[in-house]
Amino acid sequence: MKKRIVAPSVLSADFGHLERDVRMVAHSRAEWIHLDVMDGVFVPNISFGFPVLKAVVAAAQGKTIDTHLMTVEPERYLKRFAEAGSNCITFHVEATHNPQKCIDIIHEAGARAGICIKPATPVEAIAPWLPQIDLVLIMSVEPGFGGQTFMPVGLDKARQLDRLRRERGYKYFIEMDGGIGAHNAAVVYGAGCEAIVAGNAVFGAEDPEMEIVKILEAQ
Ligand code: DX5
Ligand code: ZN
Repeated sequence: MKKRIVAPSVLSADFGHLERDVRMVAHSRAEWIHLDVMDGVFVPNISFGFPVLKAVVAAAQGKTIDTHLMTVEPERYLKRFAEAGSNCITFHVEATHNPQKCIDIIHEAGARAGICIKPATPVEAIAPWLPQIDLVLIMSVEPGFGGQTFMPVGLDKARQLDRLRRERGYKYFIEMDGGIGAHNAAVVYGAGCEAIVAGNAVFGAEDPEMEIVKILEAQ
């Protein structure tokens, strides 16, 4: 079977018990921890910034910090996100006039670079950068909030991106974000994604660690 990764989204954690919740992820079979940074401009919601990121990094025990920026002008803060401990930094192609500059800043800072596309954005919009990026993040909900219903529009994009990397030898990971849990993980992995973001499904579960296993082993 192809590699499978779960990235629990801290957005759905209990911020009154953030360290406990991050330690749960650190102890679990999830390889990545997903951080949703929202600026109230690119999306109609505000989440958190550097102090929370640093607290997560401190409790994450070496898990990959997968930071998803839903912010305008991401190039202004990419270096700081790398310095604060993000291993992979993903920006929205819709949020910048200069994706190349963003990729270069992230790589120069020693992190992996990801590009994210909203449900209405086609794969063609990121085609020029596919040879150099490390991750494509496909939104399966409108960015801004956890706990929304999965939109299947991303599945064909995952298949397209998976086909493109096989045909052209590209190296990016494919990750999908929004409305995913054990009930639909199999179809998402089956479409070519290695990584699944899960917020509400994991942190809303009675046994979050078991829920991560259920997502990883979904048939
Ligand atoms: C939405 C965020 C997601 C969100 C996913 O803008 O990018 O990462 O936290 O949450 P669920 O899994 O609850 O849809
Ligand atoms: Zn996200």
